[in-house]
Amino acid sequence: MEKTFYIETFGCQMNAHDSEKVIGTLINTGYTQVETPEEANYVFYNTCSIRDKAEQKVFHRLQSLKRTGKNKVFAVLGCVAQQEGEKIFERAPHVSLVAGSASYTKLPEMLIQIEAGNRRVTGLSFDNPEAFDTPFTRRDNPYHAYITIIEGCDKNCSYCVVPFTRGPERSRTSESVMEEARRVAGLGYTEIQLLGQNVNSYRDPSSAGWDFATMLDKVGSIPGIRRVRFTTSHPRDFVKPIIDAIDSNPNLCDHVHLPVQSGSSSVLAGMQRLYTRAEYMQRIDWMKNAKRSIAITSDIIVGFPGETERDFQDTLDLLDEVQFDAIFAFKYSQRPNTSALALADHIPEEEKTRRIMIVNERQRAIQIRNNANLVGEVYEVHVEGRHQSLGQWMGRTSQYRTLNFSGRDGEDLLGSYVPVRVTRAGPNSLVGEAVL
Ligand code: SAH
Ligand code: SF4
Ligand code: F3S
Repeated sequence: MEKTFYIETFGCQMNAHDSEKVIGTLINTGYTQVETPEEANYVFYNTCSIRDKAEQKVFHRLQSLKRTGKNKVFAVLGCVAQQEGEKIFERAPHVSLVAGSASYTKLPEMLIQIEAGNRRVTGLSFDNPEAFDTPFTRRDNPYHAYITIIEGCDKNCSYCVVPFTRGPERSRTSESVMEEARRVAGLGYTEIQLLGQNVNSYRDPSSAGWDFATMLDKVGSIPGIRRVRFTTSHPRDFVKPIIDAIDSNPNLCDHVHLPVQSGSSSVLAGMQRLYTRAEYMQRIDWMKNAKRSIAITSDIIVGFPGETERDFQDTLDLLDEVQFDAIFAFKYSQRPNTSALALADHIPEEEKTRRIMIVNERQRAIQIRNNANLVGEVYEVHVEGRHQSLGQWMGRTSQYRTLNFSGRDGEDLLGSYVPVRVTRAGPNSLVGEAVL
């Protein structure tokens, strides 16, 4: 059988990067990537389980392709694979391979088993000392490179499946991270994004013993690297030396994504987030007092069990107080195995919808007001794309704002860093003109 594969990715940046590792591994094993599932002999879904809707997507896909897929091999990877394990074979009997993120280095062996006719192959162990050895990564984006520094999560937020889908925390050695970072710099990448479900609890397992702030500074000091980003930070592990590192190394982007989830300390306690509102606000103060202006973004969950109107108002009030640059708001979704399932007072769906709409409206007003103040400012933009129809370049500022701008005719700006003056501001993006 010709070895063609199609892959579709759901979920977060860690999954996006995992797919880059999977694609590289498959190509190196002799498979060819194709653009549609219909053309492919092997169909991979790299799945997300963070909310119920995300989990359902893969089953819809599997269902809709079932009839066309008589001779196809279907593989479910990622967080739903890890969470559901062999149960996936019962629910979708045409699936042949179920593997979680710690097993991707073993894909070639698993595929040999499939080629030998085995129709029930799994890779579900978290215990793979070679999981970080992914030399075949096929990076999708030519402008910024993802690098995993830590896998899994040891926090136990009561709503969250990630500790089950990605296992316990495992940090990669600093040497291995630096080797990959130097390699991507050598390939011409100027921007690196360090990845982990909880990047700032990074702890170098080797004798060098770097903490996260040291790692940031070292990656930001590699010749050729102009920007370093990181996601995601947990407030509990977000310590002052991280701000000091950003202050002292201009290559570290002035943007921090620091999910708060709720503005109410009692909801935070129910979520087992390990910080109070006041402790979160202390981190915000550090950032607001930094030498550079640091953009702050966050995640919010509305409708956590027991969230009263008063708790909800506390979240709205926190939005006003912090003035985030952007937020991602989610309705609480019940997840398997999580301890929040046992809590009383689940909030009705309509009420969650009402709350998320209010949160998003409030934040939109904040962004409209604050972005209007940016008109006239000049920012350095890393150019990542072009809107052909508008004749505009598209890129991001160090603060991770999207800035669309016009340049000079005939000039190719892709991949370059261009100073741009902001001329207009919307809630989610800015428009400007290159300062040439
Ligand atoms: N490790 C990151 C979060 C990763 S998940 C952190 O600790 O901040 C991304 C976001 O999804 C979370 O910040 C949270 O806002 C949301 N989320 C996670 N579980 C959820 C659930 N059960 N229901 C709704 N939103 C959830
Ligand atoms: Fe989930 Fe909490 Fe871990 Fe983030 S820190 S991945 S929300 S358990
Ligand atoms: Fe989803 Fe797994 Fe990421 S659950 S958000 S793909 S870690």
